[in-house]
Amino acid sequence: MPTKRQAALPGTTDRRIDTLLSLLAENSTIVVSGAKIAKEIGVSRQQVWRWIEKLRALGVKVKGHARTGYHIERMPDILAPQLLSRRLYGTPFARRIHHFFKIDSTNAVAMRLGESGEPHGAIVIAEEQTAGRGRAGRSWASEKSAGIYCSILLQPAISPAHAPLLTLLAGLAAREAVADGAMPALDIRWPNDLLLAGRKFCGILTEMRAEPDRVHYAVIGIGLNVNQSKMPDWLAASATSLRIEMEKQFSRLEILIRLLRNLDHYYNQFITEGAQPILRRFAEVSSYFKGKHVRITTATETYTGVTAGLESSGVLRVTRDDGGGTQAVLSGDVAEVS
Ligand code: BTN
Repeated sequence: MPTKRQAALPGTTDRRIDTLLSLLAENSTIVVSGAKIAKEIGVSRQQVWRWIEKLRALGVKVKGHARTGYHIERMPDILAPQLLSRRLYGTPFARRIHHFFKIDSTNAVAMRLGESGEPHGAIVIAEEQTAGRGRAGRSWASEKSAGIYCSILLQPAISPAHAPLLTLLAGLAAREAVADGAMPALDIRWPNDLLLAGRKFCGILTEMRAEPDRVHYAVIGIGLNVNQSKMPDWLAASATSLRIEMEKQFSRLEILIRLLRNLDHYYNQFITEGAQPILRRFAEVSSYFKGKHVRITTATETYTGVTAGLESSGVLRVTRDDGGGTQAVLSGDVAEVS
């Protein structure tokens, strides 16, 4: 369901469902007749009824039926483009929003969009992913309408060496989208895992196409566990959701809007002022910045050491326990050693 006039990608949500959602949401206090909805979005009343049933299956509480009219009982927590677009006005993310009810991976779609010349700022959102990608070839569990699964296409005029900063700034944007005074145990584990009480609820996968000196496009894929009431058994020891930790439901729509607005802010700051503000902010909010005893696992080795700040490109410095000096960690998994 892309916003603005543009060719829809195969499988995107029908933009008329998007309009239906907006209509119901805008008129949440009144009953809207099936005939009026049908006329406004240009389909039959039977089609309206079928879509209402589809929305109900997704948990949208719609009261009434075709004869009496429909009425939304609670604002739907669907990441619908029209609802998002008007709240993202003034950012590059308001114009090209591709929404899927179900897709393999939003990053895979966004990479294809990047390849086909889609402009900076396009975003891809799914209610559910069947093959969500995580870092290091892992998968990302993407339960239907419980989390945020979003990929953002950027075309920054930077060299690939500075790409880790994109990941860092996305982590900061996501952190500030959820942070409130009631989350004392909120942390960022380099480069971008958001943790609550030591368990991960948000991960970021940055993929890009680049030449040695220039990035053609980068895709920042963000997975944020919001309303999962239980994590899959194989993840429960290390992963969590906002709902599990805070014992309440959250609006995915509001979190995503804040996240994208924050991303706009940090991205602009990075482009105009360079890396320093991002590095300073990371130092303020991450306990992993300096002095943390960690285990580093890369493709070729595992070692322990103490974190020693970030380089200007955003990579982590670690002073090895084995006397091997301080080295930069370009990629790899970081775990606290207790
Ligand atoms: C990690 O391993 O920590 C990164 C996880 C990134 C998951 C997100 S969900 C939206 C986007 N689409 C994907 O396939 N992956 C990212």
